[in-house]
Amino acid sequence: MGASAIPVIAIDGPSASGKGTIAAAVAQRLGFHYLDSGALYRIVGLVAGERRANLDSDTEISAISLNLNINFIREEVWVDDRDVSGMIRGEVAGAAASRVAALPGVRAALMTLQRGFRKAPGLVADGRDMGSVVFPDARLKIYLTATPEERAQRRYKQLITKGVDASMAALLQDIRDRDHRDSNRAAAPLLKCAEAIELDTTGIPVEDVVAKVLQLYQEH
Ligand code: DC
Repeated sequence: MGASAIPVIAIDGPSASGKGTIAAAVAQRLGFHYLDSGALYRIVGLVAGERRANLDSDTEISAISLNLNINFIREEVWVDDRDVSGMIRGEVAGAAASRVAALPGVRAALMTLQRGFRKAPGLVADGRDMGSVVFPDARLKIYLTATPEERAQRRYKQLITKGVDASMAALLQDIRDRDHRDSNRAAAPLLKCAEAIELDTTGIPVEDVVAKVLQLYQEH
């Protein structure tokens, strides 16, 4: 089967809209592979920060992006011989990710890597530009949203559960800042592409959203 015959479900949307949870659950239900594209940008942000690279230099950060040995092993994310699963979830890596994601050379470097995840029997990919740029021929394109308040609330619960101290006001501000940066950059800004089906998940349980995506996939 040629790569283009392998079905892709693209799930895009702003930060903390629940994409990761929904995409992983849909992949599991269908027995498909799962790509968390945000993790790739987070890895680049993390490594670039560790190497004290200039986070605004496309040349410097693209060179780093092209030479990363990344492996997803079950729930874990490895770079070379390091498990970076915990580190890439931190706010520092997140903020760095959002900066390096604005660099066109970095996006190009990660494109090939992302397309490599398209393997039989299928792929569920989540991110910002899965349906618009990376997998324009995706069988189903979903754009997940939720109000900034609901997204901040979800992140707050997640952090508190993990025993991390958090402030609702700071989280809400962080979400608004990130939305602004992700939507206003020149390279592949966050936007809903015309064919994408928008699902507002505010106040809707995860299981219901998963069921809706599966139903839409069957209909496509
Ligand atoms: O989804 P996330 O929060 O893990 O993404 C981290 C950052 O990477 C976020 O600021 C946007 C960026 N990103 C992107 O530009 N394109 C993607 N396909 C995925 C993430």
